[in-house]
Amino acid sequence: MCGIVGYIGGQEAAPILLKGLHRLEYRGYDSAGLALVNQSGDLNVYKCKGKVSDLEDYLMDKDATGTIGIAHTRWATHGIPDNVNAHPHFSRSGKIALIHNGIIENYRVIKDALIANGYTFRSNTDSEVLVNLIEYVRDTHGCSLEEAVRVALKQVVGAYAIAILEKDNPDEIIAARQSSPMVIGIGNGEYFLSSDAASIIDYTNDFVYVKDGEVAIINRHKPLSIVNLDNQPASIDITKLELSISELEKGGYDHFMLKEINEQPRTIFDCIRGRISPETGEVKLSGVTDNREKFINARRIIFVACGTSWHASLIGEHLIEDICRIPVEVEYASEFRYRNPIIRPDDIVIAVSQSGETADTLAAIRLAKEAGAFVYGICNVVGSSIARGTDSGTYIHVGPEIGVASTKAFTGQVTVMAMLALAIGKERGTVSDEYYREVSEGILSLPDKIAEVLREDEHIAGLSKVFTYARNFIYLGRGYNYPAALEGALKLKEISYIHAEGYPAAEMKHGPIALIDAEMPTVVIATGQDTYEKTISNIEEIKARGGRIIALVRKGDTRILGIADKVIEIPEITECLTPILSSIPLQLMAYHIAVCKGRNVDQPRNLAKSVTVE
Ligand code: M6R
Repeated sequence: MCGIVGYIGGQEAAPILLKGLHRLEYRGYDSAGLALVNQSGDLNVYKCKGKVSDLEDYLMDKDATGTIGIAHTRWATHGIPDNVNAHPHFSRSGKIALIHNGIIENYRVIKDALIANGYTFRSNTDSEVLVNLIEYVRDTHGCSLEEAVRVALKQVVGAYAIAILEKDNPDEIIAARQSSPMVIGIGNGEYFLSSDAASIIDYTNDFVYVKDGEVAIINRHKPLSIVNLDNQPASIDITKLELSISELEKGGYDHFMLKEINEQPRTIFDCIRGRISPETGEVKLSGVTDNREKFINARRIIFVACGTSWHASLIGEHLIEDICRIPVEVEYASEFRYRNPIIRPDDIVIAVSQSGETADTLAAIRLAKEAGAFVYGICNVVGSSIARGTDSGTYIHVGPEIGVASTKAFTGQVTVMAMLALAIGKERGTVSDEYYREVSEGILSLPDKIAEVLREDEHIAGLSKVFTYARNFIYLGRGYNYPAALEGALKLKEISYIHAEGYPAAEMKHGPIALIDAEMPTVVIATGQDTYEKTISNIEEIKARGGRIIALVRKGDTRILGIADKVIEIPEITECLTPILSSIPLQLMAYHIAVCKGRNVDQPRNLAKSVTVE
């Protein structure tokens, strides 16, 4: 939610900031802005409603020069998306500009106190309150900006990644972080600042992750300095990151989402590479071998996650209970953190997150750690807050996911969970050699089978057009594919704005069947072997009520072909891996329907890729 970027050095800042904002646009895209100090010492702020490209147009006839600057792309929390609420925000004197990602929870109290001291506000944002609080502290204490930031932040409750520029000190950016991501790129005589290292990877591979409660003093003439709110020096650890720039571009596809769907044969190959021996089928996850005793003795596993990662976790629950015989619970991180859960030291909490920055998941991790549980992470973004905040973990290694709708991360998460289940099951002796081999061979076959599913794209695009009229959809699945049904429904609603619900197929009779008519298509994932006959009965019941059916079936299934309106075939694979294959046609269907409806597929309304506020 919101992206921040900053630059200080010898180059013109604006092109670097704008490029960074484009790369951060997945975090929010309702307005954008930047602040620069030019050679004459003017602090210029330019901002407007809309996308980064709108800001670029707006800047055409402006003085956007300067070798120091900060910039922001917004996902509105306080105040509607408009020019005034866009960042950066000025302090009352106009001498300090601030950008902010996060939420200042006690902004109302602070604002009232500032109003009582004669302050007035232009915007409805909590961020404008913060910049004025900082100025107020500086003026009343007669201190430096850096000290004022530290003192002000001690009064703040909430989440923030902020960067501040001062007209009278064009050699310095002050930045601070609490619960919102922030990384500083170290260049040659220059510094870069961002919410996400990927946005500044063109310029450096050396990054310093700012930690919670830290303030960074980024001066163009001095080494980087980081202190805590009590002005005690903090350690500066440089992390080297390698990222291919091509992974951050659309590479000829119309949308990032389509690119990311099509990348899945490779991303799953990268996810399993070096972790399963193609010769022996043996799974090796260092996170499990390094913590063998913990997994052997675990009394319970609790998954905490949000959105798509929560759906993947539901599949993880099946896999682990099935293969490792450990009881599993799957929790929405946002609920878990607020409901006084029972967490014991012999519980393992697995936090699942693509971005590694989701605020609720981070809070759930903190809670689990406080209770003494061992916390394992399944993340995509290397070096993210969750990856750093967990005791151990496994990266899914699917590369940057930029489309707001999660696709390749979901299949990567489930693939990691399947490997995790095998590795733990082996350690605990709960999986037979035969089944272990069947699942590991299945995982090794995924890249080819995903490629086979993707070859159905034209067929899926064709049938998607037929159903673009629908205003509601139902998705049904059972067992391993019930979470895939939930995920299919989420994909459709978030990018096409069509209402969609996922249900376990057998639940239809308990209520949702009342909705069925010719206007309400039902997507049925009918790949399960044990419940095959029952699923056919569900399909018949829907047909009998005039409903239209799109069925996902195992390759060569002729029975359902005869009943359903449309059929999509899935290659044979061991049952527990079917959701990885069945999710892909559902991603494509959601994509094509959204494109037919003229939606902004990569940046759907009201959403942001990384949910760093509650
Ligand atoms: O980065 P995370 O996996 O923690 O994100 C969780 C959800 O915000 C995310 O999966 C969201 O539901 C996606 N938009 C789904 O496509």
